[in-house]
Amino acid sequence: MQRKKICVLGLGYIGLPTAAMFATHGHNVIGVDVRSKVVDALNNAKITIEEPYLDILVQAAVKSENLIGSTEPEEADVFIIAVPTPITNDKRADMRYVVEAAESIVPYVRKGNIVVLESTSPPGTVRDVLCPILERSGLVLGEELYVGHSPERVLPGKILMELVGNNRIVGGINRISAEKIKDIYKTFVNGEIFLTDETTAEMCKVMENTFRDVNIALANELAKICEETGIDVWEVIRLCNKHPRVNIHQPGPGVGGHCLAVDPWFIVEKNPKTAGIIKMARQTNDSMPHFVADAIDGMLGESDYSRKICILGVTYKADVDDTRESPIIDLISVLGNRGYEVAAYDPHATKFSCEARSLEEAASESEMVVLGVNHEAFKKINFTELCRLTKGKVFFDLRNFMDREELERAGFKVKVLGSGKVDVKEAEAEDMAE
Ligand SMILES: NC(=O)c1ccc[n+]([C@@H]2O[C@H](COP(=O)([O-])OP(=O)(O)OC[C@H]3O[C@@H](n4cnc5c(N)ncnc54)[C@H](O)[C@@H]3O)[C@@H](O)[C@H]2O)c1
Repeated sequence: MQRKKICVLGLGYIGLPTAAMFATHGHNVIGVDVRSKVVDALNNAKITIEEPYLDILVQAAVKSENLIGSTEPEEADVFIIAVPTPITNDKRADMRYVVEAAESIVPYVRKGNIVVLESTSPPGTVRDVLCPILERSGLVLGEELYVGHSPERVLPGKILMELVGNNRIVGGINRISAEKIKDIYKTFVNGEIFLTDETTAEMCKVMENTFRDVNIALANELAKICEETGIDVWEVIRLCNKHPRVNIHQPGPGVGGHCLAVDPWFIVEKNPKTAGIIKMARQTNDSMPHFVADAIDGMLGESDYSRKICILGVTYKADVDDTRESPIIDLISVLGNRGYEVAAYDPHATKFSCEARSLEEAASESEMVVLGVNHEAFKKINFTELCRLTKGKVFFDLRNFMDREELERAGFKVKVLGSGKVDVKEAEAEDMAE
């Protein structure tokens, strides 16, 4: 394809890899962000987020002089909007960044340009929010200015691989818009690119994440049921999933991240009367930090210990530095509100509440160690030493991640989320009876 000038708005987890990918495939890219710190870092070929190999790609892109950062957009052939779409406290889509980004490009769009919204958005956003703003340019949309939505489906930790390899949906406000957008992405996408209309593309993205959120809610509900029943949810799931048409997801302390914990609300907001299962699933997943805190209360009971809780991992998923919507951050605040002293350690993330500088500092004199996130690095912990540092010698695994026997050999009493079989208090009582 002919070399294009591409303006990418938003240089976060999605925009920066996309900008660098276009630049390393021969396009002339200007990466725009309202945060000058991010722009300065880019112009120094540095990155401010953690994502495998992204630093190398950005260095190559900047070195080739095909990628520069700026705090202001400028004229280009293609504009790609990859700004945040968070939710407000009352669970409504906060579209202010999309509106601001769209307004910022109105003075620069010209006849023949393409505008793509990549941000995950409530179905109807391109039609009802983006298009009315772009019409202010005086251009006829779909004839002089081609507009559409191409949602991003990459997995943090594997963004670069998935950006290239994943199938992609492109929804245009008309067929020619969709085709023009497809041609742009074909530059680096090896997966198939499927064309549709813009609102269908928006619905596909939010429904993909909703599908996963609802399934996780089912697993979380099952975990609660298994605890009540006195059986082990992990064994139930393992055996159920031997059925050829069953795939129960993994339970855990909740669902986080900027996608799964957010996108289902976009549907609930638009279809409040119809989206009953979706809303209940969100509420079930949001209830998990409270469920975990109740379990901690139950295990510690009347203890005289100092009630310090050590938490391992605060990010919303394993091996990333992203804490957005993390259920462990919620758990920390629920425990704090109940009067616990909480110290959390994460080898990937920094700048969160109750942050301990080291594993030792977090664990020292703690009553219980709670594994919040299944970071690979935690497998390398010296558990004998960890157990020695703690006071209560209880290990609560919220992910069924650790080798239970290894923990027990190290001296811990172990509790796994969703396992009603093991009650730490009972185990302690048995010990005392011996
Ligand atoms: N992170 C993911 O894994 C992921 C996956 C799929 C889809 N998405 C979606 O992609 C979109 C972007 O997510 P992200 O994770 O990259 O967000 P992010 O917060 O990492 O980055 C967004 C960037 O946009 C910048 N920004 C805000 N307003 C701006 C404006 N008016 N002009 C230019 N820059 C602006 C911010 O300063 C920030 O650096 C969201 O809608 C998200 O739901 C994210």
